[in-house]
Amino acid sequence: MLETIGPNKRRKVVDEEDSEHSKPWVEKYRPRRLDEVTAQDHAVNVLKKTLGSTNLPHMLFYGPPGTGKTSTILALTKELFGPHLMKTRILELNASDERGISVVREKVKNFARLTVSKPSVEDREKYPCPPYKIIILDEADSMTADAQSALRRTMETYSAVTRFCLICNYVTRIIDPLASRCSKFRFKSLDTGSALDRLSYIAEKESVGYEDGVLEDILKISRGDMRRAITLLQSAYKRNDLQGTKKITTSEIQEISGLVPDSLITELATKIAGNSVDEIAAYVNDFMKKGWAVTSVADQLHSYYLTSDEFSTDFKNKVSWILFNTDAKLTNGTNEHIQLLNLVIQISEVQKIS
Ligand SMILES: Nc1ncnc2c1ncn2[C@@H]1O[C@H](COP(=O)(O)OP(=O)(O)OP(=O)(O)O)[C@@H](O)[C@H]1O
Ligand SMILES: [Mg+2]
Repeated sequence: MLETIGPNKRRKVVDEEDSEHSKPWVEKYRPRRLDEVTAQDHAVNVLKKTLGSTNLPHMLFYGPPGTGKTSTILALTKELFGPHLMKTRILELNASDERGISVVREKVKNFARLTVSKPSVEDREKYPCPPYKIIILDEADSMTADAQSALRRTMETYSAVTRFCLICNYVTRIIDPLASRCSKFRFKSLDTGSALDRLSYIAEKESVGYEDGVLEDILKISRGDMRRAITLLQSAYKRNDLQGTKKITTSEIQEISGLVPDSLITELATKIAGNSVDEIAAYVNDFMKKGWAVTSVADQLHSYYLTSDEFSTDFKNKVSWILFNTDAKLTNGTNEHIQLLNLVIQISEVQKIS
């Protein structure tokens, strides 16, 4: 008996170490306490106050991806109930769960109906343990309007013993009667300063070597999405680890992120200016063979034209309009090659007359 327990136990310890080591950094560095959530001072300060009074309203968190919405509600519930009680007091449903009307009626109601479990003496000493349960509906903007409607009544019926936290990217997709029942918390894209602090903290903890300016480049590419920034850093680090190289460079980051190299964008813009349609078409043919995503090309052309002093405001306006149309068509799933060709020929026409 003892012989079998021994090796098994050892394996468990090794597994735990392994899993900590191989955990994606976004999870490893997910803020555990409200204090660790950076750059969302307004939301965090208000929520901290509710910790003191234990009087929590229904909440609606909204804002762009990777800005700390899910992390904040998880940190808040942990600080309210502690890790043990949390298990019985929280129901978390996200877009991967079935969330039609039937689920709202059944799962949410069944959980809301359960009596509130009693905290242990130990938990009561350490945490506020307020007498209600929290239902988290993550990615609530993907719920149908009917399912959202069904939620209105449930929210009211069980409001004495439950609080709802709806989380979404697009607040306009939440029906008005539901939104008006909640306190709204807007999560903004992380500003470069706070994001840089957090990213350098992670880089230091993981002993990541990088050249000057690399972290800034990562943040520029991820545009305030901290999840994307951390994932990029980890991918670059993994790649260097495998190849035995030490410092991460800007060109590596560009390659991993699928960003078209600046030199290629400049080359494309130069071709557009002052070449015939036939020459441009031939160039686009070759360009498409390189496999770049046309949405990235359009996005980068946008930055190229708009940030340059070389072009007039009128020209920039016209190019923006052309790019807007291309983007809309690409989102609808039209042919990439035709769209790129159409885009560059239109820009070249505008350039000829301005
Ligand atoms: N404000 C923040 N402070 C510190 N880390 C953050 C912050 N926002 C995001 N992160 C990092 O990014 C990861 C993803 O954050 P989170 O899941 O909270 O984003 P989200 O706002 O819920 O995004 P989505 O809308 O895509 O669900 C976290 O694990 C954490 O590592
Ligand atoms: Mg989330």
